[in-house]
Amino acid sequence: MQIRLSPSMRSITITSSSNGFLDLMKVKVAARHISYRTLFHTILILAFLLPFVFILTAVVTLEGVNNCSSFDCLGRRLGPRFLGRGVDDSTRLVRDLYKILDQVNSVEVPDGQKLPQSYSEFLSDMKSNEYDTKTFAIRLKSMMESMDKEVKRSRLAVQLHKHFAATAIPKGIHCLSLRLTDEYSSNAHARKQLPSPELLPLLSDNSCYHFVLASDNILAASVVVTSTVRAASKPEKIVFHIITDKKTYPGMHSWFALNPLSPAIVELFPNLNKVVFLDDDVVIQRDLSPLWDVDLSGKVNGAVETCKGEDGWVMSKHFKTYFNFSHPLIASNLDPNECAWAYGMNIFDLRAWRKTNIRDAYHYWLKENLKSNLTLWKLGTLPPALIAFRGHVHPIDPSWHMLGLGYQEKSNLESIKNAAVIHYNGQCKPWLEIGYKHLRPFWTKHVDYTNDFIRSCHILEPQD
Ligand SMILES: *[C@@H]1O[C@H](CO)[C@@H](O)[C@H](O)[C@H]1NC(C)=O
Ligand SMILES: *[C@@H]1O[C@H](CO)[C@@H](O)[C@H](O)[C@H]1NC(C)=O
Repeated sequence: MQIRLSPSMRSITITSSSNGFLDLMKVKVAARHISYRTLFHTILILAFLLPFVFILTAVVTLEGVNNCSSFDCLGRRLGPRFLGRGVDDSTRLVRDLYKILDQVNSVEVPDGQKLPQSYSEFLSDMKSNEYDTKTFAIRLKSMMESMDKEVKRSRLAVQLHKHFAATAIPKGIHCLSLRLTDEYSSNAHARKQLPSPELLPLLSDNSCYHFVLASDNILAASVVVTSTVRAASKPEKIVFHIITDKKTYPGMHSWFALNPLSPAIVELFPNLNKVVFLDDDVVIQRDLSPLWDVDLSGKVNGAVETCKGEDGWVMSKHFKTYFNFSHPLIASNLDPNECAWAYGMNIFDLRAWRKTNIRDAYHYWLKENLKSNLTLWKLGTLPPALIAFRGHVHPIDPSWHMLGLGYQEKSNLESIKNAAVIHYNGQCKPWLEIGYKHLRPFWTKHVDYTNDFIRSCHILEPQD
């Protein structure tokens, strides 16, 4: 089939070949009733959006149904005939159009041709060249492909920028760490023993609630500790074990020495039975002491499962989400539909843990991944843990730990308010500019913006 639009747009010739027969139609457009611009635009816009409506419109217009301006009207006028059994012109046209689009679909678009960059350029391109249908379709295809490429490139660039934004340490937080480190060397109060000697026995007292937090971000760690203590019914029984790196240690020490919050601080946990492990991108909103009473049925790790729940995106994680099931080692050992669970707020029964070989399994799989050139799973610490803890996880109620605040902009605010722990996992951390504005207050309300160090580093409360 060919469609020719003559430059004056006063006449349109449609040549259609179907079932080996040639039909020729030459139609004069009734210029008095519609402007050719309208016709031209309509045909083009529709052709762009929906090839099959293109034909509908063309036929309607050619047949003189000129005062139809909506899809609905077109549908009503054409519908019965179009859907009718008889092979009339419109069905034949549609069939031919599909044929030509199908043909063009496998045609390689020639490289390096100059393509219109916008709809209006496309329009003038159409006006100044008289294309047959095939050329028209090919140009349409190449334009769409080039736009598709452009979109993919932009998406990649966005991801990349987001990655840089997410991994860079904001100036204010860096400054905070430097100032506090400085304070550690110049101020004896900042170096005072943590915890004070009379509290040392608490560090291994199993009647206390022991939290483990690994972080090199002082501001984030302070929010986790502050929010936990604020939400606790018995703050005096809370013991925090903070694991940090060498360069952050003096600053972290200064912060908690100068801003005491009653809980104790130390580097690692020795003879404890149960600890709760917290990521540094969480906020605690409810007393967590009942976690110690959760019956783990002999399992090691109490965690929230992430494969079912209201949020169809955040709560849709199975093993196939994390692992490369094209790899024989994965395919032969794991079930793609096994439910995944979340890190970030976990109860670990250390007594049960000591009886298992979780550690060995974890290291075994890390080694296997190295041997396979890191093709077993995407980067991250969760996948090897998912394998190592298989059979050792006890699911806990999802309201304990709400996930996704760092990547799900549409996180349900009611659920956030009701969750015991909210987790900003994902790139949009609440202390970054790319954090979601409406989700930040749940975090910022635990930051003391009047603190001297925070103020001197120009860390300001975000204004709406
Ligand atoms: C890993 O990569 C190296 C070099 O790139 C290659 O020689 C080796 O065969 C690869 N190993 C596997 C298991 O694919
Ligand atoms: C998944 O494993 C297969 C088989 O080893 C490998 O060819 C492929 O590159 C892996 N995929 C990724 C994304 O690493």
